[in-house]
Amino acid sequence: MSAQKSRFRSARTYGRSDRDGFIHRSWMKSEGLPNDVFDGRPVIGICNTWSELTPCNAHLRELAEHVKRGVWEAGGLPLEFPAMSLGETQMRPTTMLFRNLLSMEVEESIRGNPIDAVVLLGGCDKTTPGQIMGAASVDLPTIVVSSGPMLNGKFRGGDIGSGTDVWKFSEAVRAGEMQLKDFMAAESGMSRSPGTCMTMGTASTFACLVEAMGLSLPYNATIPAVDSRRRVLAHETGRRIVDMARKDVRLSNILTRESFENAIRTIAVIGGSSNAVIHLLAIAGRIGVPLELADFDRLSNGIPLLVDLQPSGRFLMEEFHYAGGLPAALKEIADLLKLDVPTVSGQTLREIVADGECFAPEVIRPFERPACRASGIWVLHGNLCPLGAIMKPSAAETSLYHHRGRAVVFESIEDFKTRIDDPELPVDANSILVLKGCGPKGYPGMPEVGNMPLPKKLLAQGIKDMVRISDARMSGTAFGTVILHVAPEAEAGGPLAIVKSGDEILFDGPARKLDLLIGEDEIESRLATWRRSRPPSKYTRGYYRLYKDHVLQADRGCDLDFLVGKSGSVVDRESH
Ligand code: FES
Repeated sequence: MSAQKSRFRSARTYGRSDRDGFIHRSWMKSEGLPNDVFDGRPVIGICNTWSELTPCNAHLRELAEHVKRGVWEAGGLPLEFPAMSLGETQMRPTTMLFRNLLSMEVEESIRGNPIDAVVLLGGCDKTTPGQIMGAASVDLPTIVVSSGPMLNGKFRGGDIGSGTDVWKFSEAVRAGEMQLKDFMAAESGMSRSPGTCMTMGTASTFACLVEAMGLSLPYNATIPAVDSRRRVLAHETGRRIVDMARKDVRLSNILTRESFENAIRTIAVIGGSSNAVIHLLAIAGRIGVPLELADFDRLSNGIPLLVDLQPSGRFLMEEFHYAGGLPAALKEIADLLKLDVPTVSGQTLREIVADGECFAPEVIRPFERPACRASGIWVLHGNLCPLGAIMKPSAAETSLYHHRGRAVVFESIEDFKTRIDDPELPVDANSILVLKGCGPKGYPGMPEVGNMPLPKKLLAQGIKDMVRISDARMSGTAFGTVILHVAPEAEAGGPLAIVKSGDEILFDGPARKLDLLIGEDEIESRLATWRRSRPPSKYTRGYYRLYKDHVLQADRGCDLDFLVGKSGSVVDRESH
């Protein structure tokens, strides 16, 4: 086919014989591309969040080469481009602040360049959601290739899990149950290969949701990062994306209301991260699928935890893959899924799930013998969270599902760190720890600090869990009776802002209630005083200001208000 006759959007750049066509092709030929690759074949963008500052994505350059092999083989032209990388363990103040910035970069990189379809290479927590948000606002054919999980961590002859065991070891050191030298030794055995956290943290959760939504080839979520089968999957993805470009199968053909419902049910089956709620809401807002916080509770209600992985259970991602991976897990709830949805593989979800086979029923439990009956996401309401709050019941102590206690309030995470181990702090096992100032606007960026460490003096008494409430998020690798994402957040004038130490709070998980037990008049009076005492924002310039002025609350996915929806793939002005 001649480039002039090609129907691809890249033909507007490469398929012309004028001065501009000369410029577009000639400069690309400096990369060693022969003339005939501009013959009207589809151009496949490979959006790569590789970075040495994002260890989870440090192997993505090599993986991109395997995607390219598949693209060339299928008759496409692969062109790799970078996107901002968000290293969860390295960035300050929190990668969540920059998820939306990454999404803007991805959107405009795809829109502005002569790309007909795109492969998203990412993995660390915010990279995948940010990339999908950006791609959704353009809506070209799109496939995700995830980093894949790290190999299991090893310490003293046993397995240790990313994040989850860090929290456990750190509490053990504070409780005097673990020596500091052992704590330091564990650090070297935890992260043994490239790839994402190998617990069911946010990265593994989101990779599973991507697979459940049909946005990747089967087993993308679980094949270990360094397993040769991930390179094979990357190669096959290269072939598939060319086919999708030719058939014009767009992201919106895959990301439908049905696929979001499948994703929400998948969260329950795998004991997925609470962070998935915010990311799915944001992606739904971009692609134009109606989705609400209440959907998470309603759709995951009654689905037990079947995948027995840390932090809710025992095993790690390697075992999950060897046990049969996501198709085997989804097979257990097949009659609850929307199976006749298309996927990027060309198969329906029904066909993929039918091929699923479980090889280790202690890792992927049968429906009738779950790892935990309460799973999914609880969405709480009450006068403390008028726009909702969430909790992950599978990670909580069941004896705390109903709890009434007095608040011990911390105005910021710095205040918390200063006072939590003070022997004079008036706190006991019945207290409820309340943390403010950690929402999207408040921190800014909504850090993962909601799983507040327990006071040292209570750890010494053997206390392992307490009710904790905040407008923050928590790491997907964390656990505990932790109520998160209180909306509106304190900084936005939600009632959380006026809770005082000593106030009584009622939490009733099964009834989904979270109430501050003071009168409405008192709440209003305190809020009026709070509003009068607000200091001016210290964020007066740059991206921080843009973010703080425009970020939506957690119940809307924390996107920037002006980014909701699509711009589409058409850029009507020429390149000048
Ligand atoms: Fe990157 Fe956990 S730190 S996935």
